[in-house]
Amino acid sequence: MELNYDFFYQWTTKNLKLNLDGYKETQLQRRIATSMKNAGAESLEEYAVVIEKNPEAKQKFLDYITINVTDFFRNKDIFEEFEDQLVNELLVKFPSLKIWSAACSTGAEAYSIAMILAKHNVKLQNKILATDIDETILQKGRDGIYNEYELKNLEYNLRDKYFQESKGKYHVNNSIKRTVEFKRHDLISDAYPKNYHVIVCRNVMIYFKNDVKNEIYRKISEALVPGGLYFAGATETIYNPAQYNLKKLTPFIYQKDA
Ligand SMILES: C[S@@+](CC[C@H](N)C(=O)[O-])C[C@H]1O[C@@H](n2cnc3c(N)ncnc32)[C@H](O)[C@@H]1O
Repeated sequence: MELNYDFFYQWTTKNLKLNLDGYKETQLQRRIATSMKNAGAESLEEYAVVIEKNPEAKQKFLDYITINVTDFFRNKDIFEEFEDQLVNELLVKFPSLKIWSAACSTGAEAYSIAMILAKHNVKLQNKILATDIDETILQKGRDGIYNEYELKNLEYNLRDKYFQESKGKYHVNNSIKRTVEFKRHDLISDAYPKNYHVIVCRNVMIYFKNDVKNEIYRKISEALVPGGLYFAGATETIYNPAQYNLKKLTPFIYQKDA
């Protein structure tokens, strides 16, 4: 049966404030169809009613569509490169930093950065800005509570130093938590903040159409100070970074032209 995706895109934009136009179509439609079937609906019109009536179904849909998979120190070697660039490029040039973790999911990425900053006593101009399109996962980030599985790749010494265990859950210590601020931000449709020394935006570009992706790279570059760093995902190499005034420093770290 043909599914009426046009109807559904308009419906999510209007009712969920989720504009799906910029996402790669085939992958997106496959996820919508699976999500619809899992909810027991037989058409997208029917699925919209289910989502409208049932907050749990709505959350399941949002979680499935926005794909929240994340990890502490995801791709550890890249975080090591990042730490190296932070110490050798940024801290020698800038006395204090502004840092943005965009599409941050549950905050694992922002807290990983916060732990690196704490190690080097980095002075921040503002709290690390951690943004995502999904309010529920932002709240998880604000709560800063994770289960053991979610911390599986975090070194034990960092877990002991920066988390408090209570009834099998791990709570981020205040020393780290207070350095991060969570806000909703849609990379496609919201205005970008400015003057960042570091922007981390990983594992989200893969879901966007090429023209949307290009526009996001342009806006990320604009949001960086000259000499600032953009930290990309492990599968997200930028083709011809010079077009965005970016230069490749390492396979996944780019620097804005000075
Ligand atoms: C696979 S996770 C990546 C999380 C983290 N950056 C990492 O690499 O571990 C993708 C995240 O992008 C978010 N996202 C999807 N579309 C977005 C948009 N238009 N604006 C901002 N965030 C978006 C999702 O909600 C999800 O949390």
